[in-house]
Amino acid sequence: MPCGRITGTGSGLPERVMTNADMEKLVDTSDQWIRERTGITQRHIASDEETTSSLAETAARNALSAAGLEPGDLDMIVMGTTTPDQLFPNAAVLLQSRLGIGGIPAFTLEAACTSFLYALSVADKFIRCGEARRILVVGAEKLSPLVDWTDRSTCVLFGDGAGAVVLEADDEPGVIATRLHADGQYRDLLYFPAGVGRNFPRVSDSRIQMKGNEVFRVAVKSLGEASRAILEDQGIGRDDIDWFIPHQANVRIIHATARKLDMPAERIVISVDQHGNTSAASIPLALDLAVRDGRIQRGQLLLMTSFGAGFTWGAALVRM
Ligand code: COA
Repeated sequence: MPCGRITGTGSGLPERVMTNADMEKLVDTSDQWIRERTGITQRHIASDEETTSSLAETAARNALSAAGLEPGDLDMIVMGTTTPDQLFPNAAVLLQSRLGIGGIPAFTLEAACTSFLYALSVADKFIRCGEARRILVVGAEKLSPLVDWTDRSTCVLFGDGAGAVVLEADDEPGVIATRLHADGQYRDLLYFPAGVGRNFPRVSDSRIQMKGNEVFRVAVKSLGEASRAILEDQGIGRDDIDWFIPHQANVRIIHATARKLDMPAERIVISVDQHGNTSAASIPLALDLAVRDGRIQRGQLLLMTSFGAGFTWGAALVRM
């Protein structure tokens, strides 16, 4: 049975970089506080013209080029995002139109920061059942319009961006396994308070709400448990993992999770310092960074794990 193998990765980041010094001009914060409490030094913030689908297009074209493919070689697009340009057509269809490839299925999954792992898992299933051979999997977000730029406890955390991978059918894994979870009992700890069914007229006035301390605690627990469970399921030891690529929300969450797994610091990919928390884009952005700087090599084993609003969480084991 074939499974999905990542043959190309790519990033798309807004031009504008907002440093911690820029944040100091907006709210009562300091570069030192942000670096010590989150590990973030800068984030990219999209302009009015840069949207989730435009950032996704850049990431997609970079991933396709790395895989040596043209957009027309794809037979499906699966996108993870919480911040589509518009409610419909869905964001993957807007991306498809930007890539100029009509006809193939293109759909979007929303699982907050875990959206990319959900998208990767679903795409791999399509490859395993033989319905697709070359799938573009994207995680993309324009979170900045949802951020309360007067709330120092949230505005310093988030950034915009997109990451993409090309998943191709191969007899050798590839995506070895994925594990996905969700628990809506935590829906009030991290949420956006408006949508079609609630506060509809006030969508543009609404902002991200978060109980940071409680999110932190559950995030560390869930990321650790999902990672440990997928390793146990597959009979793979921590020492077999070449690179640990966790969701990039806060460097303290990353290190606390790594400590639970006994994962050495030198095997963790960290990009939250440069990108902030880009939600669905965070894992593919971190992956692309480490592929392009030469750390991640073909044949190496990756453990990815993510956590987001809902809560949703999960893990993936991927052989490059
Ligand atoms: N600059 C300066 N001070 C700040 C600040 C900022 N940007 N944000 C909060 N503070 C202050 C608080 O007001 C508080 O002050 P007080 O003690 O006078 O009330 C103090 O710092 C400590 O706040 P606390 O919330 O306990 O800080 P923390 O160490 O827990 O860090 C977060 C706050 C948000 C960085 C942290 O809880 C976190 O990262 N949580 C998870 C968030 C997350 O990852 N969400 C997405 C999941 S996908």
